[in-house]
Amino acid sequence: MSLVDLPLLPLGKGRDLDAERGVECPGDLPAASDPDLVARARAAKEALGERVFVLGHHYQRDEVIQFADVTGDSFKLARDAAARPAAEFIVFCGVHFMAESADILTSPSQQVVLPDLAAGCSMADMARLRQVEDAWDAMADAGIQDSVVPVTYMNSSADIKAFCGRNGGVVCTSSNADVALDWAFAQKADLGEGAKVLFLPDQHLGRNTAVLQMGIGLDECVVWDPLQPGGGLTADELRKARMILWKGHCSVHGRFSEDVVDELRVKHPGINVLVHPECKHEVVLKADLVGSTEFIIKTIEAAEPGTVWAIGTELNLVKRLADAHPDKTIVFLDRNVCYCSTMNRIDLPHLVWALESLVAGTVVNRISVDPDTEADALVALQRMLDLPGKSHRD
Ligand code: 13P
Ligand code: SF4
Repeated sequence: MSLVDLPLLPLGKGRDLDAERGVECPGDLPAASDPDLVARARAAKEALGERVFVLGHHYQRDEVIQFADVTGDSFKLARDAAARPAAEFIVFCGVHFMAESADILTSPSQQVVLPDLAAGCSMADMARLRQVEDAWDAMADAGIQDSVVPVTYMNSSADIKAFCGRNGGVVCTSSNADVALDWAFAQKADLGEGAKVLFLPDQHLGRNTAVLQMGIGLDECVVWDPLQPGGGLTADELRKARMILWKGHCSVHGRFSEDVVDELRVKHPGINVLVHPECKHEVVLKADLVGSTEFIIKTIEAAEPGTVWAIGTELNLVKRLADAHPDKTIVFLDRNVCYCSTMNRIDLPHLVWALESLVAGTVVNRISVDPDTEADALVALQRMLDLPGKSHRD
């Protein structure tokens, strides 16, 4: 596939309905300066009562998270969405792939709303179905397809999850990637060391989990680059690999660097460095602890007063943790401000607009996955929800 097939549209401009971003956001939004926004959101939520359930990912802005009925990482939110069959409307304060997963996991009568359609995810955009199917065909040509189980991170579009469902694979999140890899390798247990995983789309979560939690060697991980012919790999490299990592990454977590870890250790002797597994392997190797957003929150909650922490994840969450724990010193693991720009698309004006539209009887920005994709994606998501609960970290 050429670069021409992968238009990177400016956020919120133009239309590319197959992409995770670049989708127009229609509607007459209230002004951000409207002093009544909080009261309007509260009134609309009260008017909707039990008919609406608002989910908020940990990376959402404070102004939005205050209206969430539940907060969580993507794994917890997927479970929470599936557990609310009575709510007519699920308003998802998060990004597009999360709203798609909520639509797949809820009943057809429930409608999922994403307050701003431009809230996509650049990582999810890095794996397109056609690219993944090309890679799968290349694996058949190299004679290894039968030994490969595809595993996709939750942070992928519904059609990539459906691909995994169709091809004996599973979805994972940052809370259960190790359990999902155990499951995937067990599907090909008869092949012993010959079993392989194709991990989509985040190379860092795949590598960190494989090497640090599964004991797989770095030299057994290869990177499939969808922009190179044959993924940039020889048939021999593919045959020798145990982990075939898709060349995708998170633009937020990819920013954290080893030299800032070194700098902070000099500045704050005894500091604990806590990072998300979407960070680069070199950064994770220098950290003290690694885990999902839920794990990061629980670790800080359990930490002793007076302890000092550097956290490598999205800034809205780090700031909220610092505010909630004034008895601990919490610093951000980057020299610069580092929000997820697409998570930040969901602001109070968009939430008010979405809720007030529901009160008025109009469902705006509905996220609806087509039935065929939904059926296959559900297979992979359900395999994830059925995995044993215990991760290697528990
Ligand atoms: P988790 O919610 O799985 O921690 O993932 C973080 C993230 O980047 C979500 O977009
Ligand atoms: Fe995507 Fe990274 Fe933003 Fe999560 S934090 S939505 S993975 S770009």
